[in-house]
Amino acid sequence: MSIPKEANTLPSDTQERTQATPTLAELEGTSWQQLIQATERSESQSDSKGFKTMTLATSTSRGADARIVVLRRVDAARKYVWFYTDARAEKVIQMEAFPAATLLFWDDKQQIQFRLTVETRLHTDDYIADEHWQALWVGARKAYLSEQIPGSEQPGPYPGFPEQMGDTLPTNEESEAGRKNFAVIECRVLAMEYLRLSPSGQARAHFQYEPESRMVWLAP
Ligand SMILES: Cc1cc2nc3c(=O)[nH]c(=O)nc-3n(C[C@H](O)[C@H](O)[C@H](O)COP(=O)(O)O)c2cc1C
Repeated sequence: MSIPKEANTLPSDTQERTQATPTLAELEGTSWQQLIQATERSESQSDSKGFKTMTLATSTSRGADARIVVLRRVDAARKYVWFYTDARAEKVIQMEAFPAATLLFWDDKQQIQFRLTVETRLHTDDYIADEHWQALWVGARKAYLSEQIPGSEQPGPYPGFPEQMGDTLPTNEESEAGRKNFAVIECRVLAMEYLRLSPSGQARAHFQYEPESRMVWLAP
């Protein structure tokens, strides 16, 4: 018995969706590529930089805390990401006591959320912190010149660097005073969760790296 042609053919929109659906491995690969792209200089204004910043959620002895930080470096092969902070900041104290953290990313344009479960490690006076510091331009180093401990109470607004510096950039030599306050936080990614919102169907997937590798689709 011959099957009528129409019965064997998916509606064209379903066909397009089926063809466009990536495999878990493809989705995992492109997700990491998107994080790498967020740390690179854009060639064009239209390049999506939604993943340039992330919310770092930490644990404290009193409960939970969260704040935005900039994604600085990504190693997709080894599953590591890095961000920078002031070594005197409250978050550093929290991560030393509770190294487990979550990094939450959201790209509004693509409607994609990444949730990374990480183990954090602090680098201050080792070669890793030195290497990142050497690569940092003076404008970014300026943020580490604060004479005041981050979060300490002040008699008035304090800019986060010596007030006389104003809008000017420190010289390379002046910026070296910030090195003692500079901390690199290395994040070993234990798992990544992907979520994409779409009116035509959401997609949620979990990529486990530790203790063993595993990829699975999840109900949104
Ligand atoms: C867009 C944006 C980017 C930020 N990037 C960083 C960063 O890369 N590192 C950092 O320590 N703080 C960064 N901050 C400031 C933090 O969100 C936070 O206010 C500050 O670090 C104090 O946090 P803590 O008291 O939990 O240590 C950023 C804030 C915003 C709004």
